[in-house]
Amino acid sequence: MTKAARGSLLGIEQLRAEEIAGLLKLARRMNPQKTRPLLRGKRVLLLFYEPSTRTRSSFEIAATSLGAITTLVQSSGSSIEKGESLLDTGYTLHGLGADVIVIRHPNAGAPLLMAQHLDIPVINAGDGMHEHPSQALLDAYTIVRHKKALKGLHVAIIGDIYHSRVARSAIHLLSKFGAMITLCGPPEFLPEVAATLAPGLHITRTVEDAIRGVDVIMLLRVQKERLAGMKISLQDYIARYQVTMARLKLAKKDALLMHPGPIIRGLELTGEVADCPQSVIVEEVRNGVPVRMAILARALGRAR
Ligand code: CP
Repeated sequence: MTKAARGSLLGIEQLRAEEIAGLLKLARRMNPQKTRPLLRGKRVLLLFYEPSTRTRSSFEIAATSLGAITTLVQSSGSSIEKGESLLDTGYTLHGLGADVIVIRHPNAGAPLLMAQHLDIPVINAGDGMHEHPSQALLDAYTIVRHKKALKGLHVAIIGDIYHSRVARSAIHLLSKFGAMITLCGPPEFLPEVAATLAPGLHITRTVEDAIRGVDVIMLLRVQKERLAGMKISLQDYIARYQVTMARLKLAKKDALLMHPGPIIRGLELTGEVADCPQSVIVEEVRNGVPVRMAILARALGRAR
């Protein structure tokens, strides 16, 4: 297999725990309020084939906080609409002087393909059902800020695990650091995951069992249209899996309530849970900036 361009971040699976710890340490030294010219003159291309609010804007803020210039290319309104291939778009952006490409794509493996054909680093901002490495890193950063370490923590991941790149990256990361993971969701949202991602994952049938005594509850986005093709109705999903204040109380008193966003109040969680003191949903978004500053600095060889 052709090697991916040096500095690329394609997934958590292939990173060693020391590399992840190094990125988190670097992120702790990044201050988005204080512009650092670490990447002055560098061109960061944001190539988004799917909608994004958090990932796209925080990569942009991260890049500009480090003195880089950003350009956004979205599938809508660009020559991608005319049928230009992924690689031809990549060659074009390279030709325009991109020093790094941050890409979100509906197909798993799109960032890898690009990183194998371009000699500039490629950052995976979410590819299909595969990985969302920067989300896992900012979630780890957030957990460590509150809990000091990941080892020995009990984390419940609830929702559509099967389709979730966030879940895949989180499971890879948490497993590497010795956290215990419990998965919970309707059977259609769980198949094969436990066997293929990490041995020793625990699955519970009820959300009460999943949440009882945990240190962290990580909720996942549930797309209503996916429920439409399943045995479980939207109303049943809400009744069986929605995190309410009563269910949240089953976790440890100081448990963190996390969600990568976008949240749907009244579906995965109640509005009260989203806004409660244990919720770190907004903090996750905030922490995305220093974490993505660290990712960009590493990609461009400025991880000092
Ligand atoms: N968490 C996340 O990836 O959000 P966006 O889709 O808004 O980037």
